[in-house]
Amino acid sequence: MRLKKMFLPVLALCMAAQFLGACSDRSAVVSEKLHIGVTYYNQSDTFLNGLLESFREQLGELEEDGMEVTVTIRDAAGSQRTQNDQVKELIDAGCGLLCVNLVDRADPSEIIDLARDNDVPIIFFNREPVAEDLMQWERLYYVGAYAEQAGVMQGELAAEAILSDDSIDRNKDGKIQYVILEGEAGHQDAIIRTENAVDALRNSGVELEKLSYQIANWNRAQAQNRMEQMASQYHDEIELVLANNDDMALGAIDAYKNLEVAREEAPVIFGIDGTDVGLQAVLDLDMRGTVYNDKEGQAEAMVRLAVAIATGEGMQEIDFEKERCIYLSHWKITRDTVEDYIKDGGEAAEE
Ligand code: BGC
Ligand code: CA
Repeated sequence: MRLKKMFLPVLALCMAAQFLGACSDRSAVVSEKLHIGVTYYNQSDTFLNGLLESFREQLGELEEDGMEVTVTIRDAAGSQRTQNDQVKELIDAGCGLLCVNLVDRADPSEIIDLARDNDVPIIFFNREPVAEDLMQWERLYYVGAYAEQAGVMQGELAAEAILSDDSIDRNKDGKIQYVILEGEAGHQDAIIRTENAVDALRNSGVELEKLSYQIANWNRAQAQNRMEQMASQYHDEIELVLANNDDMALGAIDAYKNLEVAREEAPVIFGIDGTDVGLQAVLDLDMRGTVYNDKEGQAEAMVRLAVAIATGEGMQEIDFEKERCIYLSHWKITRDTVEDYIKDGGEAAEE
């Protein structure tokens, strides 16, 4: 695991130095014991459950190396008010650091005030606060992925498929009739992914005709419902479905299966994330391709940052952008490469 190789020597060094009385930084005193409070927007989110599983696993490895780490995870169940209460509760319970996946990325003020008043740093993740909010206090950080890159890669994957397979343009009019399944309105990964996917397709020389789009809030069941509506409106006219994440791509696949449309008659469908279920759908040829959203890398960045904050060591080795943000890259996945990811749970991407 990358973290082990690259980071633990630094931690071990600081802890050893501490015993010798060499770490004078006040925050380093808490380095052997770390209580992390996590709250995330909704426990039904497939991608975030995977990310948090990896986060726990990687924290577990720190324990093997002698650091005592406790994690408390809370589900905000889609309510910002609930999440604000959870933050208060986690601080009262003695958490020295918070990892917050905001319900409403535009509304972090109460959480930031609570954290600042109690001097508890926050690592926001996956749902990016706007820059001005992040600048409100110097102990606020963000870990996420390049939204634009995910969209470009999805568009390129779709273009590669379309340009090499005549059968996708089913009505042979030289244009690709497409629909979009979009994540939550206002989420940085929704609009940005869509715009960049469409631009990348156009830049690759694909002529497009947009038939419709629907917001399905990242959710598989909602996407199935919206896709069934669009399929009943446009019948077999839809040739391409671009979904902002794998769960919604899977919802589109569910819709066509439910409508008993054979795969050759259904549009080609693309997702983003590379969740276990998403990868399986690529393997089964139900999804034509997806873009790997590096949940292990994001979890690792959170762990690295958490330890650096707690020990006061290792911060200078972290590649920050915009002062306090860390962004991870994506990879394209097709049927030809998917098996590497399924076998190694995404770790193949790190080689
Ligand atoms: C992921 C989605 C997830 C959303 C939650 C996105 O980055 O691709 O699958 O539902 O984050 O915030
Ligand atoms: Ca066409």
